[in-house]
Amino acid sequence: MNSPKQRQNIHYFPGHMAKAFAALAPYLKSADLVVEIADARAPSASRNPMLLSLLGEKPHLLVLSKLDRADPKVTEAWLSYYQSHQTNAIASDLKHEKIIRNLLTGASSMITRKREKEQKIGMKPQPLRLLVLGIPNVGKSTFINNLAGRNAAKAANRPGVTRAEQWVKVSQDFVLLDTPGILPMNYPSEEQAILLACLGSIKEEVLPLDALADSLLALLRSRYPACLEERYGIADVTPLSDTMIYEKIAKRMGYLSAGGNPDFSKARRGLLKDFQDGLLGRLSLEGAPC
Ligand code: G4P
Repeated sequence: MNSPKQRQNIHYFPGHMAKAFAALAPYLKSADLVVEIADARAPSASRNPMLLSLLGEKPHLLVLSKLDRADPKVTEAWLSYYQSHQTNAIASDLKHEKIIRNLLTGASSMITRKREKEQKIGMKPQPLRLLVLGIPNVGKSTFINNLAGRNAAKAANRPGVTRAEQWVKVSQDFVLLDTPGILPMNYPSEEQAILLACLGSIKEEVLPLDALADSLLALLRSRYPACLEERYGIADVTPLSDTMIYEKIAKRMGYLSAGGNPDFSKARRGLLKDFQDGLLGRLSLEGAPC
């Protein structure tokens, strides 16, 4: 159980939700398709649920980023879940694969609809206007740079889209706004906040480090014990207390105090960093709903 002080720390709201959404409104209006980026390792926690209510009839494509970091089976399950819930979704390793083909597949029905409309009124085919949105650190700039093939995206450091509007032609099918829209975080539960901090979408400092590492460890214990063996040589975590596990991590990784004793704080920090750097393997923090 967290103390009232710890609970207070977790409720951290960067920016003003209503103001941020108001700033996005004109861009939403001129876009044909909203591309929402979320982290494949926590597809639910890394979205702002208010976005959907704002979109109305606007076509929407959800892109799960960091496919290379997520558990492939879990990502598959999320994609099936979206498919059965009328959500257009694709998953991608934005850092290492060209996104354009994946995007063409994900947006094919929207492109077809647009082409049909254009044909009806005798208009030449126009590229789809994409607006890229998402909470911090999910890969919005990486997505834009991947598509535009150059340093098109310079993330604004406040919610909304703050620079002058500039559409970049990407292919005959797409143009995109060169700056992503940053959605404010909306995390009603402590669990979601912890997941977001583990992913680096909210600053770790706003959460007590010990609680954060302990939550990650609990998750790894139950879902991915093998990664603790591979990285730290801990063969069976079941009978071990958290303290015992941190002690083993500290010894294995050389996280020792000046006197040679295990440094538990360094061990916790090391575990988090290893997860964030992808050194624990492909792991997902949130399973798909059944
Ligand atoms: P943002 O605009 O939404 O804030 O996110 P951004 O694109 O800046 O990406 C945040 C971090 O996530 C970056 O790492 C970026 O490289 C990484 N990233 C984005 N998409 C993917 C992906 O599909 N796979 C992997 N493995 N990483 C991804 P960084 O360490 O902050 O920067 P950098 O050193 O990689 O440039």
